[in-house]
Amino acid sequence: MVFGLIFVLAFSFVQCRKAAVVPTGLVTDTAMVVSAREEASAIGVAILKKGGNAFDAMIATELALAVAYPYAGNLGGGGFMVYRKANGDVGSLDYREKAPLSSHKDMYLDSLGNVIPEMSTVGATAVGVPGTIAGVFEVHAKMGSLPMDEILQPVIEFAEKGVVVTKNQAERLDRYRDQIIAVNGEETLFYTKCVEGDTLYYPKLASTLTRIMENGRDEFYKGETAKTLAAFIQEKGGFVTEEDLARYEVVWRQPVIFKYKDLRIISMSPPSSGGVTINQIFKMIEPYDIGDYDQNSPEAIQLLTEAFRRAYADRNYYLGDPDYVSIPLDFLLNDRYLKNRMETFSIAKATKSEDVSHGTVEIIESAETTHYSIVDAEGNAVSVTTTLNGAYGSKLYCDELGFFLNNEMDDFSSKPGVPNMFGLIGAEANSIAPEKRMLSSMTPTIVEKDGALWLVVGTPGGSTIITAVAQTILNVHEFDLSMQQAVEAPRFHHQWLPDFIIFEPEGFPESTKEALKAKGYLINEGRTPVIGKVDAIRVLADGRLEGGADPRGDDKAVGY
Ligand code: DON
Repeated sequence: MVFGLIFVLAFSFVQCRKAAVVPTGLVTDTAMVVSAREEASAIGVAILKKGGNAFDAMIATELALAVAYPYAGNLGGGGFMVYRKANGDVGSLDYREKAPLSSHKDMYLDSLGNVIPEMSTVGATAVGVPGTIAGVFEVHAKMGSLPMDEILQPVIEFAEKGVVVTKNQAERLDRYRDQIIAVNGEETLFYTKCVEGDTLYYPKLASTLTRIMENGRDEFYKGETAKTLAAFIQEKGGFVTEEDLARYEVVWRQPVIFKYKDLRIISMSPPSSGGVTINQIFKMIEPYDIGDYDQNSPEAIQLLTEAFRRAYADRNYYLGDPDYVSIPLDFLLNDRYLKNRMETFSIAKATKSEDVSHGTVEIIESAETTHYSIVDAEGNAVSVTTTLNGAYGSKLYCDELGFFLNNEMDDFSSKPGVPNMFGLIGAEANSIAPEKRMLSSMTPTIVEKDGALWLVVGTPGGSTIITAVAQTILNVHEFDLSMQQAVEAPRFHHQWLPDFIIFEPEGFPESTKEALKAKGYLINEGRTPVIGKVDAIRVLADGRLEGGADPRGDDKAVGY
């Protein structure tokens, strides 16, 4: 009886503590889309209001981002979708790019075996076979509810009507203008300088989308568009052929699903490393009750850093395309293995990455990708991260078709031990082979609490994606932040090698850094990048939705 009373009091205390969290993001009653641009979120919401479901809105949002946010939104790239239907069914779609048929392990090496600078990052040689159009048509065939033309028409009108350039966008276009001209020449659409408030029109993209609307998926992979695209890439010296396009297929995959305390987390499986790595991180920290520390306190940062270090060491060695390499998932995700892995963790001092494995590499500035989160009126949830890899991908822009092409080939390991543009070093598991998919860090994730939908979350950020998603979930679950606060909170990152922590510019006091240094942590003081642009949705206790739209970009939640 007394025990029962204590239990009830303790339980209501926990309830009170949680109930005190006041939403600070956009709150709506029924449905929401959060993406990198307000226009793309609004097009997704218009589809939902018309009676479309979250999957219809996914198609509209994905393609609207190719118009509003060509930095990362795309027809010439690929991505991953994790979903949870209102009835609790979960799954994931892999529409990642593939290596062209003529690819081989040493394709980016010179005769001395050295990596040829820029060959896997800039121009046509960097382009993998795009998966986005196959992805949206597959989603439509299996899950869509509205006819495709009703979904595509507003996107086509948007491309014709044009996009007003934001301050961020003007700055980005200016930053990459010389590179875009170097790859495409002065005839390219992006030759003309633009400033905030200008309107960019995409009539060629509108025509491409119209042909796709009329002729379906095969227009992009076997039709006139395929012929134009393959001829263009080859003329520019690249490897993608008509045969590569014709052979492209998406894959439905079983997501990675695991429990963390009272949460059930559903995330992307290989060829993305996101789900496996975040699973390892959460299981490694679970025994330590991170919520007993303050958010972003030296102890919380330390615990997470040690889990990040160990998880990324495994990521880089074991993970690759599961259709080509066998990944010891039972071993990597085994509770006892993960507990053992943390046995060398001590709150007294830093572990050295060279003691977890070995090697030294430089981290290189990351570029762009984009994530969007959707919940519809029925409670279906969609979490999608989609990318061209670098900013504007390979910078190769097909003016005739109206879109940029990816430089996803750089996500392979061109040479074991040599870092890619995110400073990630790969091993044999991620070596190049014809039609293989390159390893990704994209981590579109859905979280259930007490068996019900709770969070939809993800972000861009290259190698920092996984650690940013982990911190966002913990900010809500362990540190009682609202969805919007959780997205806004300052972030840090560690990826095993190079063996240092990077912090965002604001929000980490010197005293925190000093406390970590005293324990032997190395901090890259010179590099304080923005880490990720998280776009998320939380289902509140009363069933309403709270958006978390990252103020680091132009990101926006729209709903009703
Ligand atoms: O798939 C990947 O992991 C990378 N291509 C993602 C690139 C990215 O997030 C760039 N953004 N900052």
